[in-house]
Parts: sequence; C-alpha cells; structure tokens
Amino acid sequence: MSARAAETHRSARSAAASSKRLRFPGTTMNKLLCCALVFLDISIKWTTQETFPPKYLHYDQETSHQLLCDKCPPGTYLKQHCTAKWKTVCAPCPDHYYTDSWHTSDECLYCSPVCKELQYVKQECNRTHNRVCECKEGRYLEIEFCLKHRSCPPGFGVVQAGTPERNTVCKRCPDGFFSNETSSKAPCRKHTNCSVFGVLLTQKGNATHDNICSGNSESTQKCGIDVTLCEEAFFRFAVPTKFTPNWLSVLVDNLPGTKVNAESVERIKRRHSSQEQTFQLLKLWKHQNKDQDIVKKIIQDIDLCENSVQRHIGHANLTFEQLRSLMESLPGKKVGAEDIEKTTKACKPSDQILKLLSLWRIKNGDQDTLKGLMHALKHSKTYHFPKTVTQSLKKTIRFLHSFTMYKLYQKLFLEMIGNQVQSVKISCL
Ligand SMILES: *[C@@H]1O[C@H](CO)[C@@H](O)[C@H](O)[C@H]1NC(C)=O
Ligand SMILES: *[C@@H]1O[C@H](CO)[C@@H](O)[C@H](O)[C@H]1NC(C)=O
Ligand SMILES: *[C@@H]1O[C@H](CO)[C@@H](O)[C@H](O)[C@H]1NC(C)=O
Ligand SMILES: *[C@@H]1O[C@H](CO)[C@@H](O)[C@H](O)[C@H]1NC(C)=O
Ligand SMILES: *[C@@H]1O[C@H](CO)[C@@H](O)[C@H](O)[C@H]1NC(C)=O
Repeated sequence: MSARAAETHRSARSAAASSKRLRFPGTTMNKLLCCALVFLDISIKWTTQETFPPKYLHYDQETSHQLLCDKCPPGTYLKQHCTAKWKTVCAPCPDHYYTDSWHTSDECLYCSPVCKELQYVKQECNRTHNRVCECKEGRYLEIEFCLKHRSCPPGFGVVQAGTPERNTVCKRCPDGFFSNETSSKAPCRKHTNCSVFGVLLTQKGNATHDNICSGNSESTQKCGIDVTLCEEAFFRFAVPTKFTPNWLSVLVDNLPGTKVNAESVERIKRRHSSQEQTFQLLKLWKHQNKDQDIVKKIIQDIDLCENSVQRHIGHANLTFEQLRSLMESLPGKKVGAEDIEKTTKACKPSDQILKLLSLWRIKNGDQDTLKGLMHALKHSKTYHFPKTVTQSLKKTIRFLHSFTMYKLYQKLFLEMIGNQVQSVKISCL
C-alpha cells in the first residue's frame, strides 16, 4: 500500500504537470495550425514565465477568441474558465483532496490513504500537500516493503548510511582501516597509530583487526609513556655522540644481543637528524633486548632515576588550563587540547606532565625534551605558571643534568665500541 501510495502520488504529480500543458478542447486542427500553435505555445511559455499568476490559453467559444486565463493556485480546482469579462474561478479542494501546483484541472487529487505498518506519516494530507509516508528509522522502501537497512560485516564499513529510500552502502575497508563489527552505521576506522602513543607496533592490523601496539597493558600503569625523561636523558648522553661517518653501523654491530635490523637502521637514518639517530637506535635496541643483562641493568638504573623525577615533579598537580599553557609554552608543534584531555583521563596527576612531554617530543620528531622544557621555563612568566610548577620543573631539569648514572655507561659503551672508533669525543652535558 505504501509503495502504491507513493506511486499514486507520483502519477498524480505527473498528471498535474501534464495538465499544465496547453489543451484546446473541442477543436480539431489541421497540421498547419498545429505547427503555428506549437510555435505559439513556445512563445507563450516564454512570455508567461514572468507573469504571475501563471496563465494558460483558453479558446472562448462565445467570442471565438483565444484568451489568456489565470491558472488555479495549489489547494484549489478550476471551476470556471475565464471569459472576456470574468477572471478564472477556482474553488478550494474538498477534504482529503489536494493540488500542489498552479494548474488548470477541474478536479483535485485524492490524498494517498493512511500509511502502512512500519511506516509513519511524514506529512499529513491537506489541501496543498499529499500525505507522505516514510519507512521508520532503520528501514528503507524496496518495491512494496520497508526492509531493514543492511549491516556491513567485519572488514566492511558504511560509506553511505541508509535513508528511508535507500539501503546502506558498504565498502571493504581500504589499507590502514578496519572494522571489527557488524553494523549499519559504523564506517571503517583507522588503525591505531602506535607511534602516536609512543609505543611500538607488535602486530599489524588488517581489514578486520586493529593494529596491536606493544606494552598496551604495562603502559596503562605508566599511562603509555614510551620513553621517560630518564630514558631520554640516558640515551642521549650515555653514549658519546658522533664521530665517524659510519657511527651508527659501528654502534649497531657492537651493541650486545639482538641486532637492530638493517631496514630499521635505514629508516632511522632517513627520518632523523644525525644527533637524533643514536637516541633512536638505542631506543629500539633496548626494546628488542629486554632480557639482556646490560639492558636489565640500564632499566634498573633508569627506574631509580624515575623515582627521583617523580619526587620532583609529583608536586606539580596541574589543572587542565595549566597543562594547556605549559603545552603552549613549549616550542614547535603543540600538543592540542584533545590530547591533554585524553591524558588527564588516562594518567594519574603525577604522570600527566610526563606523558604530555613525551607526546610533545614525539610530535616534534624526537626533540630533546629537556631543551624544550628549558625554553618553556624561560617564558614561564608569559604563561603564568604557578610558582610550584616552575620550581618542580626546574628541580627536575637540574636533577637530570646532574645525574651521574650515564657517566658510568659512557665508559661501558666506549669499551664496547672503543676499538672500532678512532676518534671519539665524549660529549658531556
Ligand atoms: C499543508 O502541509 C504542509 C506540509 O506539511 C504545510 O507546509 C502547509 O502549511 C500546510 N498547509 C495548510 C493550509 O495547512
Ligand atoms: C573492535 O576494536 C576495538 C579497537 O581495537 C576494540 O576496542 C573493540 O573491543 C573491538 N570490538 C570487537 C567486537 O572485537
Ligand atoms: C603515525 O604517527 C606518526 C607521528 O605522528 C606519523 O609520522 C606517521 O605518519 C603516522 N603513521 C600513519 C600510518 O598514519
Ligand atoms: C587479520 O588479522 C587477524 C589477527 O591478526 C587474523 O586472525 C585474521 O585471519 C586476519 N585476516 C585476514 C583476512 O588476513
Ligand atoms: C591533585 O588535584 C586533585 C584534584 O584537584 C586532588 O584530588 C589530588 O589529591 C591532588 N593531588 C596532589 C598530590 O596534590
């Protein structure tokens, strides 16, 4: 019924449309006249476009003249054609009847009957509008029935949501996207970018599965900080930086345990400036060699360092606004409000600054966080940091600069690689 209703409505519309065309009742015309009238038709259509109310041609039998009569407005029907003396007479449509355009019909159209089950009345019938029925939420009209919108299976996402007239359109998730649910609404989602959270990718996702990042569970305690301030300071300064053109290869060859593969080394070289490369390499090496004695020792020492940093920075219990201005004060690319909000939800207060600093570092291509912080402190007045915060940060920086742990490692690393490098300058803070 519903479909038929729509059908009736449609044919009613086209009937109304065709009734707008000129008709000359009761006259038979020869071909010549017909052609002349087609011409007339065109020229009248052209001229009547600007006239209001719209007009139609009527052959008045009394005077044997063609007259230009007013059409009838929506909501009425034509009761009497105009004459030489009188205007067109239009009368209102009776109940349950309508006309929805300017026309010349002597009848109104019957409104479509009540809507079907699974439909609702989108628009009630009145003199100027037909009743419009529509499938209820979650369904669309297919021939006669309101069918449920299709759900896209895992591996497929919604590219066009269903409407009352059209089914859902699904598409296979492209590379880098996934959908792990059956849904008529959900589009494919982007694979989680592990590096944004500062963790490594451990299992690459596909169309049905998200990427799996390393340390998802362990990082909940540390709120996903991949490289802490201590690790950063350690990696940056424990190893004497630079020297020979093939420094990175020398380091790769001499670090104990599983070697960082050539592909990763190439990537590091491509993506990072020469002073960042050592840091990047050690980060990766540590991650791949957690069971190596030297790495265990490094981790222990780093833990000690972290306890101290926590002690220094733990007092800085910052509000959202304060975290925001701290992030604003760091140079380079900014960590936005959205990340700050996520961080305040995911991390305990004492970890929030550290997490945000780590996000800033990643965002800025592994910039030196301590340098960033010093820059921020220099401008702390502009950003109105509370005194407690400035003091905590200053203490933290001072502590990291004076921490001697990596001096020991400098020696150790030097011994490991010493004989391979002819001229090594130890870089101190
Ligand atoms: C008829 O219905 C239409 C759409 O629902 C509305 O815009 C219009 O104002 C109504 N007309 C009258 C006369 O009630
Ligand atoms: C789909 O993936 C998201 C993100 O990885 C996950 O949180 C959710 O639990 C998964 N849902 C199902 C049904 O596997
Ligand atoms: C992940 O994020 C990093 C850092 O924001 C960006 O450089 C990289 O292109 C991203 N990777 C993908 C696959 O989007
Ligand atoms: C997608 O990855 C999951 C888990 O990593 C695996 O079980 C599944 O078979 C993979 N699907 C395809 C189509 O490769
Ligand atoms: C930090 O602030 C929150 C809320 O303002 C409060 O609940 C918490 O106890 C504070 N923590 C410290 C260590 O001051």
